[in-house]
Order: sequence, then structure tokens, then C-alpha cells
Amino acid sequence: MTRWRAAVAAGATACVLVAGFVCRELARVGVHQGYAPAQPIAFSHKLHAGDSHVPCLYCHFGARTSRHAGIPPSAVCMNCHGLLQKQSEDIEKLKELVAERRPIAWIKVHNLPDFVYFNHSQHLLAAIDCQSCHGHVERMTRVEQQSPLTMGWCIDCHRMRGGDPNAPAANLDCGKCHY
Ligand code: HEC
Ligand code: HEC
Ligand code: HEC
Ligand code: HEC
Ligand code: HEC
Repeated sequence: MTRWRAAVAAGATACVLVAGFVCRELARVGVHQGYAPAQPIAFSHKLHAGDSHVPCLYCHFGARTSRHAGIPPSAVCMNCHGLLQKQSEDIEKLKELVAERRPIAWIKVHNLPDFVYFNHSQHLLAAIDCQSCHGHVERMTRVEQQSPLTMGWCIDCHRMRGGDPNAPAANLDCGKCHY
């Protein structure tokens, strides 16, 4: 009986430890430097943005005017793949989804917590290039989160005025990033 109780107690302790670990990991949402999940279609930035020189904003046009850079709809892919001869397993997958009018379930790489306000267009206006925050995406066959996305990371660059000493000081007010 006591042995049985000890086993339950040990199990419970293990559960608490595991739950603690899971909670810590969940709390780290958005702070996953190095995160590079496999995608439903093996889309390569190296091939498209690197070798083929397709501009970032051709696909991520949202970044110009809005908070989100956005992921392009499949119609943008078909601008080229509707015409290109080249076929591969992943291009077949793309065409099948388009024919069935099903969206591609891309997995999000970068993920700030909901209590942070971040806006791409404000940074484009300040002439900060994509690479300052995302690294050399045009060399990646699979996108990886290169920056820590912590508050310290945001603040460090704001303190340095985006690297331009003559620029107006970027904002350090809590209320600009937290409502
Ligand atoms: C031909 C279209 C296309 C071009 C050009 C392109 N991208 Fe993308 N981008 C995508 C697609 C599709 C995804 C989603 C799949 C993935 O993560 O690989 C994506 C994902 C991303 C992500 C990760 C998004 C997330 O989930 O957090 C970043 C960052 C990114 N792109 C930056 C860039 C940058 C910087 C450039 C230019 C150097 C660029 N992209 C050029 C189509 C494109
Ligand atoms: C000042 C830093 C910074 C710059 C500059 C920047 N990004 Fe981002 N990007 C982020 C952060 C932070 C996120 C995560 C946003 C979130 O989770 O709400 C993100 C998310 C994304 C995503 C995921 C979808 C979305 O809109 O949330 C894509 C795609 C992306 N960026 C592409 C780009 C491209 C392309 C450029 C250049 C035109 C660019 N980014 C410039 C910091 C930046
Ligand atoms: C501006 C034109 C253009 C756009 C837009 C475009 N692609 Fe491509 N894509 C290409 C070219 C060029 C190749 C290389 C074809 C070759 O090797 O002959 C390619 C190759 C590919 C490949 C095959 C890689 C391999 O295994 O050989 C996949 C998968 C792919 N694209 C997916 C996409 C997806 C998904 C989108 C939309 C998010 C997209 N492409 C948008 C031009 C484009
Ligand atoms: C330039 C943008 C920015 C400014 C300014 C900013 N924060 Fe943050 N803050 C963030 C980001 C991004 C996160 C989420 C990532 C993290 O936890 O490091 C965050 C997270 C936090 C958290 C949660 C920390 C945790 O460990 O979960 C608190 C609390 C916080 N900020 C308070 C403040 C206060 C107080 C100020 C003003 C003195 C401030 N922030 C100014 C961007 C900012
Ligand atoms: C690589 C440099 C850099 C990084 C990293 C960066 N920012 Fe910025 N940010 C700037 C610059 C430069 C400006 C424009 C200066 C200005 O208008 O105050 C700006 C402007 C802003 C503004 C508008 C401020 C205003 O006064 O309206 C917000 C909000 C903001 N950033 C949030 C963030 C958050 C949140 C993060 C981190 C997730 C972040 N930034 C990371 C450089 C950066």
C-alpha cells in the first residue's frame, strides 16, 4: 500500500515537473530563435528570392501598407507556375490544392505574443530592410527565425535609431508596443 502511494506521489511529482516544462515552453511563444518548421510545400526562398531575384514585396506586398507582411495567396504562385513547364512533387501538390480551391496550410515561423503591437509598414517607412530583422532569407531553403524577438531586441534597435545616428529617436514608450 505505501509502495503504491509512493509510486502515485512520484508520478504526480513527475506530472507537475512535466506541466511546468510545458508551461515554460508555451510562455516562450514568439521567442524561438532558430525555429525552422517544415512546410506543407517545400517552398524555397533561396530559389525564388535568391537565384530568381523575385523581390520580397512581390509576395509580401502587405508589408508596404499594413501591420502584416502576410503570406501570398496561391494565385500569386500561379502567376508563374500556371505558365512554367517545370513539374515536381511539390509543384504538383501546389496545383492540386489550387484546383481544389484549398488554401495552403503554411506553418507560422515568427510569432509575437498578442500583447505586443508590431507593424511592418512603420519599419518600411523608417527604411529598415527585411534582412535587419529576418536575416538573409534569400539564402534560406527553409525559413528560420534568426532574431530573438524579445523586448530587449526591439529596444536595442530603437535606442540605436535603427543604426542611423541622425534619424529621429525611435520610440521607447511602453504604450507604443503595449496597449
Ligand atoms: C514567390 C513568393 C515569395 C517571395 C519572393 C518571398 N517570399 Fe517570403 N514567404 C513566401 C511564402 C509562401 C512563405 C510561407 C512559407 C515559408 O515559410 O517558407 C514565406 C515566408 C516568409 C517568412 C516567414 C513567415 C513566418 O511564418 O513567420 C519570412 C520572414 C519571409 N517570408 C521573408 C521574406 C523576405 C525577406 C523575402 C525577400 C528576401 C521574401 N520573403 C521573398 C513567399 C515569398
Ligand atoms: C523591425 C523588424 C522587422 C522588419 C524590418 C521586417 N520584419 Fe517581418 N516580422 C517581424 C516580426 C517581429 C514578425 C512577427 C510578427 C507577429 O508575430 O505579429 C514578423 C513577421 C513576418 C512575416 C510573417 C507574417 C506576418 O506578416 O506576420 C513575414 C512574411 C515577414 N515578417 C516578412 C517580412 C518582409 C518581407 C520584410 C521586408 C519587406 C520584413 N518582414 C521586415 C519583424 C520585422
Ligand atoms: C516570379 C515567378 C514565381 C513565383 C511567383 C513563384 N514561383 Fe515557384 N518557381 C519559380 C521558378 C523559376 C522555379 C524554378 C523552376 C525550374 O527549376 O525550372 C520555381 C520552383 C518552384 C518549386 C520547385 C522546387 C523544386 O523542387 O525544384 C516549388 C515547390 C515552387 N516553386 C513553389 C512555389 C510556391 C508555393 C509559390 C507561391 C508562394 C511560388 N512557387 C511562386 C518561379 C516562381
Ligand atoms: C519597442 C517595443 C517595446 C517597448 C517600447 C516596450 N516593450 Fe515590453 N515587450 C516587447 C516585446 C516584443 C515583448 C515580448 C517578448 C518578450 O517577452 O521579451 C515584451 C514583453 C513585455 C512584458 C512581458 C515580459 C515577460 O517576461 O513575459 C512586460 C511586462 C513588458 N514588456 C513591459 C514593458 C514596459 C513596462 C515597457 C516600458 C518601460 C515596455 N514593455 C516597452 C516590446 C516592447
Ligand atoms: C532593426 C531595428 C528595429 C527593430 C529590431 C525594431 N524596430 Fe521598431 N522601429 C525602428 C525604427 C527606426 C522606427 C522608426 C522611428 C520612429 O518612427 O520612431 C521604429 C518604429 C516602431 C514603432 C512606431 C513608433 C512610433 O513612434 O509610432 C513601433 C510601435 C515599433 N517600432 C515597434 C517595434 C517592436 C514591437 C519591435 C520588436 C518586436 C521593433 N519595433 C523592432 C527600428 C526597429
